Amino acid sequence: MPDTPQISELAVEAAVQAALAAIAAAPDTAALKAARSAHAGEASMLAQLNASLRDVPNDQKAALGKLVGQARGRVQQAIAAREAELAVAEEQARLAAETIDVTGIPVKQAVGARHPLTTMMEQMSDIFLAMGWEVAEGPELENEWFNFDALNFDPDHPARAMQDTFFIDPVERHLVLRTHTSPVQIRSLLERELPVYVVAPGRVFRTDELDATHTPVFHQMEGIAIDKGLTMAHLRGTLEHIARSMFGEGARIRLRPSYFPFTEPSAELDVWHPTFTGGARWIEWGGCGMVNPNVLRAAGIDPEVHQGFAFGMGIERTLMFRNDVSDMRDMVEGDVRFSQQFGLVV
Ligand code: PHE
Repeated sequence: MPDTPQISELAVEAAVQAALAAIAAAPDTAALKAARSAHAGEASMLAQLNASLRDVPNDQKAALGKLVGQARGRVQQAIAAREAELAVAEEQARLAAETIDVTGIPVKQAVGARHPLTTMMEQMSDIFLAMGWEVAEGPELENEWFNFDALNFDPDHPARAMQDTFFIDPVERHLVLRTHTSPVQIRSLLERELPVYVVAPGRVFRTDELDATHTPVFHQMEGIAIDKGLTMAHLRGTLEHIARSMFGEGARIRLRPSYFPFTEPSAELDVWHPTFTGGARWIEWGGCGMVNPNVLRAAGIDPEVHQGFAFGMGIERTLMFRNDVSDMRDMVEGDVRFSQQFGLVV
């Protein structure tokens, strides 16, 4: 048995003082818990003094018992008071740590924007999809045969030289960065059953210098329709519809005789609108024509049975005069603020 301490007024007071000092010094609830078990727990001095009451002569039992009881009460009270104090302090510390400065300037994550050329190609594609056409794609690195030969360009045809083309080394591979989206005409005809109604939006490449009105990389929208009995009237009607859808009901189109190896007859397409910036006027928009029988033959189609038309327009040009963009370089620089002006719809 461990030695039981002798109970006395002095011993009790000493135990209480020790307990109160430890409680007051506890810096947080964890320390207070430790002080509680040391000074008010089963093994504490006060508990031992209380236990020693049984050895006290009967006539002193009541007085000493009262003394120990009061002493334990004081310690419990001190613990409760310190506990409340610490709880408030800890709550305040936690709130202070969680404080949010609602007047602070947030760090905004800049979101990107869709490029107006993309949204414009989608808008034009949608107009054709609504008429039951399909959207087709072709490779940007194109076989020379698809880009020129199948489109009726002779090897020494001036039109082939006219297109300032990026050839891929070595030239014997006959790979070019496509100079127009017209090779998708041939690809669509080879891939699909007739009739074919297809538009092909996409990126094209020519060796132009970058300036306000030229870029070596730009976009076109090609269209081709091959069916039985298609005439230039169908071409005209289709182009009129796309012009009105893009520029408004007041838009008019005109076809001027021209030359492309892959169409015969061929025409330049001009568009007119009363509200064009700079006044109502004709603006050159693209090229078009009836698909040359040689092109149909290259795709294995009998021109006596099926005929059709094709057209192509520049997307950058369209954005320039439709949305009043004066410098093409803004479209290729990649400054998100340029794209943001257009929102999700051009
Ligand atoms: N491919 C021609 C160009 O790039 C445009 C065109 C397409 C002309 C289809 C006629 C038919 O200029």
